[in-house]
Amino acid sequence: MTAPATPQTPQTASVKDSIEGRRAVRRYTAEAPSQELIDEVARLALEAPSAFNAQMRDLYVVTDDATKQALYEASNQRQFLEAPVVFVVAARTEAVTDDVEGLLGEQRAQVFASFRSGMSPEKLREASIKDAMLVAGFLLVAAQSVGLATSPTTGWDEEKVKEAIGLGGREDRAIGLVIAAGFPNESPAHPGRAESRLHRI
Ligand SMILES: Cc1cc2nc3c(=O)[nH]c(=O)nc-3n(C[C@H](O)[C@H](O)[C@H](O)COP(=O)(O)O)c2cc1C
Repeated sequence: MTAPATPQTPQTASVKDSIEGRRAVRRYTAEAPSQELIDEVARLALEAPSAFNAQMRDLYVVTDDATKQALYEASNQRQFLEAPVVFVVAARTEAVTDDVEGLLGEQRAQVFASFRSGMSPEKLREASIKDAMLVAGFLLVAAQSVGLATSPTTGWDEEKVKEAIGLGGREDRAIGLVIAAGFPNESPAHPGRAESRLHRI
């Protein structure tokens, strides 16, 4: 008897259940998520807020085997080979983007530009990485909510990841998180959280 296929229409679990139920999962079944499911996860992830709503980040959705192989070679992490889909969240580290006026309108774009023009390259990177990591966080919960498990990672060579997704040599891009995803084929236990990390002031 074969196991019933996982429902592939986006039936979303609650935010609470998605947050509590999410684990870092590195083994996936051979079943590929539908395009609809992948698109829904990407759409929800990009609902994350960003500074000025300037959206100084991009989401790359990788289903191509050669690119997954390159991500494996950038990291030595096998989940990128097994995962039917890998999401890469990249930060836009340039001071302003060409489309910022279209996104914000002339006046807000000017405020944004003057805000970013005073920033060092390190601060620009930090600000854009903040936008990127919010997308990554939303993505982990969104994926869980539609039944997909995820493996968030930062253990890779950033330049090699950039090369893998067509951003090789781009100094105006940085990588936030690389996230393998698929239907879970393992059930890791909750690793525990320290109460000492919560501070009530
Ligand atoms: C920023 C970040 C980087 C991580 N990097 C890796 C990684 O390179 N490889 C990996 O297998 N897991 C990685 N993890 C997964 C963590 O080990 C995992 O989230 C943590 O142990 C907590 O477990 P949980 O996600 O099941 O709650 C990373 C997680 C985060 C948030």
